[in-house]
Amino acid sequence: MHAVFARAYGASDSLIVGDFPEPTPSPGQIKIAVKAAGVAYHDGLQLAGKHQIKHDMPYVPGMEIAGTVAALGETVAGPAVGTPVIALNDEGGWADFATVDASQVWPMPDDIGFHDGAALCMAYTTAHCGLYWEAGVNPGETVLVTGAAGGVGLAAVEVAKALGARVIAVASSDERLRIAAEHGADDGIDYTGGGLKAAIMDLTDGKGVDVALDPVMGSLYPDVLSGLGWGGRHVIVGFAGGDIPQIPSNRLLVKNRRALGMVMRYYRFHKPDMVRQTVDTLFAWRRQNKIRPRIAETAPLNQAPRLLQSIMDRNLIGRAILTP
Ligand SMILES: NC(=O)c1ccc[n+]([C@@H]2O[C@H](COP(=O)([O-])OP(=O)(O)OC[C@H]3O[C@@H](n4cnc5c(N)ncnc54)[C@H](OP(=O)(O)O)[C@@H]3O)[C@@H](O)[C@H]2O)c1
Repeated sequence: MHAVFARAYGASDSLIVGDFPEPTPSPGQIKIAVKAAGVAYHDGLQLAGKHQIKHDMPYVPGMEIAGTVAALGETVAGPAVGTPVIALNDEGGWADFATVDASQVWPMPDDIGFHDGAALCMAYTTAHCGLYWEAGVNPGETVLVTGAAGGVGLAAVEVAKALGARVIAVASSDERLRIAAEHGADDGIDYTGGGLKAAIMDLTDGKGVDVALDPVMGSLYPDVLSGLGWGGRHVIVGFAGGDIPQIPSNRLLVKNRRALGMVMRYYRFHKPDMVRQTVDTLFAWRRQNKIRPRIAETAPLNQAPRLLQSIMDRNLIGRAILTP
């Protein structure tokens, strides 16, 4: 089959586009004919060997998959061959076919479309699990989102709005804040000039925010923590900012704040019923136009190295989708 693959950890230009053995489903797996697959920051981290998920070489990257059921492994009763599905997998999406554990495959309504399906499966499930299941966001609360024009961040802006929250977007340019506003952010802060904490306090009458959904951490962390009000919840989703900060526990105690680590692998493998509910909610919200994934570009498999480099260089706003 046609695929994009890596023979060793490296940069985007080390990816190979060519023939790769077509996978057959093991017992418990579903084989998917891939129609759309997301390209994201986590793919670049994994390829560089800097992600918690490590791969045996050679491997096909691609965690976010939308397609149709091509075959069922032994012991798998459905969905029927031909059914449209989305799936999350540690690898394998950037190819004509992928095999995925049946527990990580969810039938998709016909009217969602494969591109939206691929864009929904990681960024939006992460945003929803972080804001709904971890932070328990209530209508009327204020949610701060860092990296608000990034894949997870933009999804979090929309999910927080759909949950009835007021959203403050944090990003590195007016253009990024404009896009976050288009997707529902009520206010925006460009952090590049400094003064993030003061800006948060200005926008919240000195109270601070109820929840921060944070895929960036790094040098923004001290201001984000200080910007959390009484009982504030900080959902730690990723480290796109580079540094992994230490958490000062006294600063949690003094305002009864909570630091919440959030990783989709926990939900995928330990809380499948919650993920099922999250996926159903996201499909319903998509049909009601409450969420609108921003697809920056769709391209064939041979464009994977360029798209991945664009994401790692922060030149692409929204999800890139490969179409095998
Ligand atoms: N916990 C989970 O289960 C889970 C699931 C999915 C992704 N993640 C992680 O979440 C993070 C964000 O993923 P994503 O898909 O949203 O990535 P993305 O689309 O590339 O967005 C990352 C955002 O981070 C900001 N940023 C700040 N400093 C950066 C730097 N030095 N390099 C790159 N970006 C920087 C950028 O916004 P500004 O320029 O506006 O600051 C950018 O928009 C990644 O670390 C990813 O691995 C975690």
